[in-house]
Amino acid sequence: MAPANPFTPSRPTGFGRNSTAEEVSAGLSLSGKTVLVTGCTSGLGRETCRVLSLRGAHVLGTGRTLASAEEACAMLPGRGSAYACDLADPDSVRACSARIRHDGHLLDAIVGNAGIMALPTLQQAHGYELQFFTNHVGHFMLITGLLDRLAADGRVVMLSSLAHAQAPRCGIDFDNLSGERGYNPWRQYGQSKLANLLFASELQRRFAGSQRTAYAVHPGVARTNLARHMGRSAQRFVELFGSLFLKDVSRGAATTVFAAAHPQALSLAGHYLVDCKAVRPSRQALDAALARRLWEVTEEIVHRLP
Ligand SMILES: NC(=O)c1ccc[n+]([C@@H]2O[C@H](COP(=O)([O-])OP(=O)(O)OC[C@H]3O[C@@H](n4cnc5c(N)ncnc54)[C@H](OP(=O)(O)O)[C@@H]3O)[C@@H](O)[C@H]2O)c1
Repeated sequence: MAPANPFTPSRPTGFGRNSTAEEVSAGLSLSGKTVLVTGCTSGLGRETCRVLSLRGAHVLGTGRTLASAEEACAMLPGRGSAYACDLADPDSVRACSARIRHDGHLLDAIVGNAGIMALPTLQQAHGYELQFFTNHVGHFMLITGLLDRLAADGRVVMLSSLAHAQAPRCGIDFDNLSGERGYNPWRQYGQSKLANLLFASELQRRFAGSQRTAYAVHPGVARTNLARHMGRSAQRFVELFGSLFLKDVSRGAATTVFAAAHPQALSLAGHYLVDCKAVRPSRQALDAALARRLWEVTEEIVHRLP
């Protein structure tokens, strides 16, 4: 039996499903803090940047192109700096971390938010299934490449999802990271979100003995552009009926902002947070040996990339 991560249910934080990102950060001053957020151009990332910036943080927002990141950062109520970072393109990821290093930023938090979901057919980057590569490998490269720029009490927040529980039964199917031995849009999305969760828990283990912390977040099911790959009818359904049963982005960004900035989150470090509380994730997500193996395999993948 693989060693498991401990899970401790959290005490109530006073925040819940209906809390907004502005509510969970009310009264916090983030002035003097610098936070890097991937995927600042849309949905939850855009709202996360807006609220962190509203509270005084200098937001470093990344987009697949510099123009899209600049457009998003120009809308922020406070200080924002735009960076290009296409997570499916290793050159772009390396250039982004080099730029951030060159600009001399010390990061108080890194939010790995960008993501793609449920691509209808198999797509790949560098021989790996594209959701695994974009959501996990790209973030792994960016974040591990910037750990020496993370403050001594810095935080890393990874956007996972409830969908992590739809990963293959073995958790991460190391024999099928290309997707060529079987592809299912939701299973592969689930695997990538399990990878985000395992990355956060392994990072927390590697932070042991320091004041740095890592968190995985399920934001709730929120009305964003995430269904863009699922076809016109799915998007239309979200547009028409989404307001009836989905969170809006102000609520969807709440747990991310809580994890990135709220003092109460510190006692929940290493956990999977939903509605600003620690929640028990799937059995695979608690498998510390799986998290370590994923880290080592991803290091090898990154090492072999052009
Ligand atoms: N919305 C939900 O219900 C929900 C539920 C659970 C988890 N999540 C997670 O929340 C995160 C944010 O999703 P969202 O709902 O806000 O979706 P969204 O509106 O589609 O935003 C996704 C963001 O990721 C960026 N992105 C996509 N591919 C990229 C790439 N190759 N390199 C860099 N950036 C890339 C997008 O940039 P472009 O605009 O340039 O494409 C966009 O900024 C995702 O990780 C998602 O898995 C969302």
